[in-house]
Amino acid sequence: MTPSTPTTNPATNPTTNPTTNPATNLATNPVTNTSTPAAVPFRRRPFVGGNWKMNLLAAEVVALAESIAAPSGGDGGAGGVDVVVFPPFPYLATVRPVLKPGVQLGGQDCSAEKQGAFTGQVGAAMLRDVGCASVLIGHSERRHGLGETDALLSRKIGQALDAGLVPVLCVGETLAERESGRAHGVIDAQLRGSLAGHAESALATLVVAYEPVWAIGTGRTATPDDAAEAHRTVRRTLKELYSARFSEQVRVIYGGSVNARNAAELLAREEIDGGLVGGASLVASDFAAIIAAASRRS
Ligand code: 13P
Repeated sequence: MTPSTPTTNPATNPTTNPTTNPATNLATNPVTNTSTPAAVPFRRRPFVGGNWKMNLLAAEVVALAESIAAPSGGDGGAGGVDVVVFPPFPYLATVRPVLKPGVQLGGQDCSAEKQGAFTGQVGAAMLRDVGCASVLIGHSERRHGLGETDALLSRKIGQALDAGLVPVLCVGETLAERESGRAHGVIDAQLRGSLAGHAESALATLVVAYEPVWAIGTGRTATPDDAAEAHRTVRRTLKELYSARFSEQVRVIYGGSVNARNAAELLAREEIDGGLVGGASLVASDFAAIIAAASRRS
């Protein structure tokens, strides 16, 4: 996949992603694809995102972007990993020309509106135009920090899909919600609310990021067991909303203090298809170690 082809959808164009079935995110290995979904671990293409949040200035952004490499197969080939960086908006166009082949560009957010008098907002089509392949929707720093609601996020997903972007929908519970036994109910409700109005057929490229709020930027990581259990909740809800097939093809990635030391253990779990990484994605060697852990899944 290349970010230099904004007029084709890198997530869905079979010519730019020859070994991944764009309708399913599944490797096109005939052995894996003819098996029953539950019997074949690790067959979803790994996805590792580096969410740079509101960090770095131009010179640092360029140096970091230049240091990131996708494993062989990153252009859609076998054994590859979808590696995506999410720089701050002002640096998307700065980053794009210096990315190595196979490393994709993503936006940290998009507007729920298509275009018009919305000062300070960024439209999904603009992200696409500047070379983005995907966009984060509903990060907890926007749900909780800016009061974004599931209804708003559903509209943002619509804009992302209309623009040909892969929506990376973030869900996750707060510490109070987890400690009061409501984590799985919260995840379920966020998915139902954010995906409301969207048909299975439109959501073929959807990625869900499970990011427990209490693990973000705290150094406190969900255990692989806890993360895997939450990911099963995600799939159960997707199955109820759509179909078993859909729930098995969607990539569900984990975010929350993923680092070079804990990535291998998390990404060894069948349920965890990749990571959405904040702080550790700002350190080139740490991010490389996380990508390497993901590539061992494929
Ligand atoms: P940290 O990896 O810094 O905890 O951030 C996770 C995150 O919010 C990624 O979107």
